Amino acid sequence: MARVGELLGAIDGVGADRRRGGFSRHVFDDAERQLREWFVEQAQARGLQVETDRNTNIWAWWGEPGDGAVVTGSHLDSVPGGGAFDGPLGVVSALSAVDLLRAKGFRPSRPFAVVVFAEEEGGRFGVPCLGSRLLTGTIDADRARGLRDPDGVEFGEAMRAFGAAPERAGRDDAALRRIGRFVELHVEQGRGLIDLGGPVAVASSILEHGRWRVRFSGQGNHAGATLISDRSDPMIPASRLVLAARDVAQRCDGRATVGRLVPNPGGTNVIPSTVDVWLDVRSSGATRPMVHDLSGMAEEFAAAEGCRAEVSEESYGDTVHFDAALRDELTGLLGDVPVLPTGAGHDAGILAAEVPTAMLFVRNPTGISHAPEEYAEPDDCDAGAHALARVLEHLAGS
Ligand code: GLV
Ligand code: MN
Ligand code: MN
Ligand code: MN
Repeated sequence: MARVGELLGAIDGVGADRRRGGFSRHVFDDAERQLREWFVEQAQARGLQVETDRNTNIWAWWGEPGDGAVVTGSHLDSVPGGGAFDGPLGVVSALSAVDLLRAKGFRPSRPFAVVVFAEEEGGRFGVPCLGSRLLTGTIDADRARGLRDPDGVEFGEAMRAFGAAPERAGRDDAALRRIGRFVELHVEQGRGLIDLGGPVAVASSILEHGRWRVRFSGQGNHAGATLISDRSDPMIPASRLVLAARDVAQRCDGRATVGRLVPNPGGTNVIPSTVDVWLDVRSSGATRPMVHDLSGMAEEFAAAEGCRAEVSEESYGDTVHFDAALRDELTGLLGDVPVLPTGAGHDAGILAAEVPTAMLFVRNPTGISHAPEEYAEPDDCDAGAHALARVLEHLAGS
């Protein structure tokens, strides 16, 4: 029976990013494929029956696949330079929970599966939760196929190179019917559990959030030969937008982040011709109004510099309230565990629109996530796997 730490240790090093620190594991790259293979081996070693769906999500069935299953799992991809726990902890805890249940002689009396969702972070193609969005039809399949990675490769092409059929991507009613309830375990991504004295929490809600791309276009030119007064430099309005995003977020009690800003062509002695600014905006109900204000400012900042601004929505998700009855079942089973909201997005948030869904969080003593410092103590990870096993035993045993 594998402890969570041993399972995580087995994939430590896969996708280690020497340049950024942490891990970079993006859909269909070498690291992510290695993790997929590792997962399939682990699932098969436990006698689970593995299949990959039309949207490249992996399903491992304990017993016969069937409708109304109890499903648990998470994702194996990461943000660029991410931590070791965001995603993999939910997958290895699911495997560990299967071991724990098996060791006590449990056999599910309804269909039961462990799932690995593809491209949860959107680290390669830009749209988060791509596997679960496709499965549920939350993203149009044509749009998804046309999403491009930073090298210009389309998601559809990447799917084909991986061995999947891009024309079959999209809402999959048969696969959705198989999910009766979904429970995702995840490392906590904030400081919620640090002071609460317990290793595990149940999630209440996910903050409304989305991603927008603002493209500033100007005139590429020579850094030495072009007078300041003669420039249409898109980096100027882009920089003003970065500062404005923080001001707007503070004013609206929301969150706004520019974690990615790409000047084209990107030379030290070149005034860029375009600058792409990716805005991640989150709030309790004010997200679109915040982006509306920022879009107006982007146009104003661009015009003042003789540039143009074009804003496009990459993804959006309303506030998610997890199923109250399922959440109460979990807290009833686990005793007096805290119930916490989260500002992070998850596949569970996408599935919550289709099926009763819940999440468990495992304490993160650093309070840091999407960075190499993300952490969970081995004992807390095991407590998370035990809590998950208890929940699955209850849901799949009755
Ligand atoms: C994903 O983890 C997100 O919340 O951006
Ligand atoms: Mn994440
Ligand atoms: Mn995650
Ligand atoms: Mn996430």
